[in-house]
Amino acid sequence: MKLSRNDACWCGSGLKYKKCHEMFDEKIEAIRRQRHVVPSHDIIKNKRQIELIKDSAKINIEVLDYVAENIKAGMATEEIDHMVYEKTIAMGGIPAPLHFEGYPKSVCTSVNEQVCHGIPSRNDILKDGDIINVDVSTNKNGYFSDSSRMFLIGEVSEEKKKLVQITKECVELGLKEVKPWGFLGDVGSVVHDHAFENGYTVVREIGGHGIGLAFHEEPWVGYNTKPGTKMLMVPGMIFTIEPMVNMGKADIYVDEDNGWTVYTADGKPSAQWEIQVLVTENGAEVISY
Ligand code: MF3
Ligand code: CO
Repeated sequence: MKLSRNDACWCGSGLKYKKCHEMFDEKIEAIRRQRHVVPSHDIIKNKRQIELIKDSAKINIEVLDYVAENIKAGMATEEIDHMVYEKTIAMGGIPAPLHFEGYPKSVCTSVNEQVCHGIPSRNDILKDGDIINVDVSTNKNGYFSDSSRMFLIGEVSEEKKKLVQITKECVELGLKEVKPWGFLGDVGSVVHDHAFENGYTVVREIGGHGIGLAFHEEPWVGYNTKPGTKMLMVPGMIFTIEPMVNMGKADIYVDEDNGWTVYTADGKPSAQWEIQVLVTENGAEVISY
């Protein structure tokens, strides 16, 4: 139903539509008519929602910092799971992965050729030379945050170190493309290009996602994209950039036994960093990293 100019705005600000998002909606509609994909209202967050999502992210970041301080060779990945669970609960949050679509643990720990969704286990012991992605997601009062970092365990080979470093650069280059009235395809293309220029590949099947009022929302954020394509970015959108960069081929498979863990098909290492970002009036703000 179309709002009248004097109705309360759909965003929940309490302001009249004409004083709030009317012009904004007209601008989006004009871009939609040029055959672009545009965001729906339900993924555009207001000030209050953004504050609550930041409260969630405060926990998420602190949990990752805590993992960073304690992770080391000889530790079982299940110990990381315990750290994440205890710290999150102590700070008033709930680990978002726990029981999400049947996921059994509080965090994803993906080592070496594990691409993502590695399930913490008492049998998986970190050893010298491993690289590991720890992917932390938090629900606080129904508001969601999500980011992941790579950790180097002990003495890591130069080639693995470079993979981790280039993947981080991919995410940070992608972040620079986040601005209102740009397109998600701008983000994906710089991520993809930087990985390829370094001789790597980017996983095609798994991408970033909108997040905030739910763990996973529209849009899907892929990296096989051209500038000026995919969804329009507007202020109030929050999504993740989380490319999985492979040292070898892009192909992957899913562990048949647990139904979750993704591996590289060629057994070569994979790295991933994940950043959660807000589109602001004049650029971007990092929510969780
Ligand atoms: N944290 C992952 C992401 O970035 C979500 C994993 S779903 C889980 O989207 F159940 F495995 F946690
Ligand atoms: Co994510």
